[in-house]
Amino acid sequence: MNTTAAKKSNGTAKSNGNAKSNGSTKSSNNTKRKSSASAGKGEADSMLKYFFTDELKDIYWAEKHLTKALPKMAKAAMSEELRDAITEHLEVTKTHVSRLEQVFGLLGQKAQAKKCDAMEGLVKEGESIVEDTEAGTSTRDVGIILASQKIEHYEIATYGGLAQLAATLGLTDAADILNETLAEEKEADQLLTEIAENDIN
Ligand SMILES: [Fe+2]
Repeated sequence: MNTTAAKKSNGTAKSNGNAKSNGSTKSSNNTKRKSSASAGKGEADSMLKYFFTDELKDIYWAEKHLTKALPKMAKAAMSEELRDAITEHLEVTKTHVSRLEQVFGLLGQKAQAKKCDAMEGLVKEGESIVEDTEAGTSTRDVGIILASQKIEHYEIATYGGLAQLAATLGLTDAADILNETLAEEKEADQLLTEIAENDIN
């Protein structure tokens, strides 16, 4: 998002045709590039590690938030298969929380949560689907599956990225742990697809 903003502001500077302001934009960009080039591998790694930790805090908040949201989702579902799948995923989610604590531990840090706006929004969307549909209808179940799959896809993207980052940083054990969770999120997503195909639609 920052990159887009930077690009946009460059575009504006260029299109206003003022040579002086173009010049200053360029030179400030050059300075930026130079400083990151001279930062060296060590500094780049520590910036990447900082970003990695920050993203860990985000998914840690998200998983903990899910442990509170999933029981409500399960209760709202009509199909037994769907209810069971969500209840089972609640247990799996608790494991994901403790795996993240392990990863923080590997980094020599205490687990810390940072509010994840995306997960908050995804859960809210699921709740409003429940509110907008009638209890005991397959429409509600379809809605719950849709909302749950959006959540799974967010988690798959996050864990995929984090596992890759961990590998890049040489944190092999952390990468293994994150990949384990990634595989379980993919399984959950697959199960939801099967339930939608076989039991509900
Ligand atoms: Fe999870």
